Amino acid sequence: MLIHCKLVILILVLSVDGQVLLREIFGGHEVVPHSRPYMVLLELHMLHGLTNYCGGFLLNEDSVMTAAHCKARFYTVLLGVHNVHNSGEVQRVSVDQTFPHKDFNSTLLKNDIMLLKLNSKAKFSKNVRPIALAGQDDGSLPKSCRASGWGKTDRNHKYMSHVLREVNVTLTDSEKCRKDNLYCSEGETGPAEGDSGGPLVCEDGKAYGVVSSVLKPKSGGPLIHGFT
Ligand SMILES: *[C@@H]1O[C@H](CO)[C@@H](O)[C@H](O)[C@H]1NC(C)=O
Ligand SMILES: *[C@@H]1O[C@H](CO)[C@@H](O)[C@H](O)[C@H]1NC(C)=O
Repeated sequence: MLIHCKLVILILVLSVDGQVLLREIFGGHEVVPHSRPYMVLLELHMLHGLTNYCGGFLLNEDSVMTAAHCKARFYTVLLGVHNVHNSGEVQRVSVDQTFPHKDFNSTLLKNDIMLLKLNSKAKFSKNVRPIALAGQDDGSLPKSCRASGWGKTDRNHKYMSHVLREVNVTLTDSEKCRKDNLYCSEGETGPAEGDSGGPLVCEDGKAYGVVSSVLKPKSGGPLIHGFT
């Protein structure tokens, strides 16, 4: 039970009637090691010594962005990770302050975004580099994007991926997503449990969003992945 709890999932799947489901999603491939040097593996230290995991991304030497639902008592930020079993050159940094979006709604997963201020500065290297955020004026809806993380890769797996993986996603335009300030993609392929908080990166290499949720429409139809 303890072991199982340690690996609890961090992405919620909400059905439209409000029922919360957990679900895994297929797809994606391992990335070339350290080709996404902005990626952060976030350890969430919970009650009773349990640890959960989320993704995140480095914005500058002392800020990491993640999802607001990746909430913990305290955090450790791991920088420069590819395979979670190789801790060689990994930087471990604690978090000084957390800034969840002031209008974060944990029931509806609205405004699911949070900034973490690091306790000490990240040391940039070829494996540790920040990513630029897309600005308001970076144009219309990007189409071809990707999401990366150490989340589950198979619905039969209990555990997270040991290596950083990535999945291509195509953004779809929908009124509901626009209204909720989300980018969305549809289909079985997409970020999965444990990928929450990772970046949505589009053609220009900038971060457009944060992996947040998966919605299973009550009416049927494809899964909808939401990026804050
Ligand atoms: C989230 O939104 C719902 C519906 O608007 C509201 O009833 C609820 O109080 C909100 N929760 C929080 C924590 O703001
Ligand atoms: C993912 O997208 C990139 C960039 O558009 C493309 O080069 C790559 O072949 C795609 N990978 C898969 C598995 O579809």
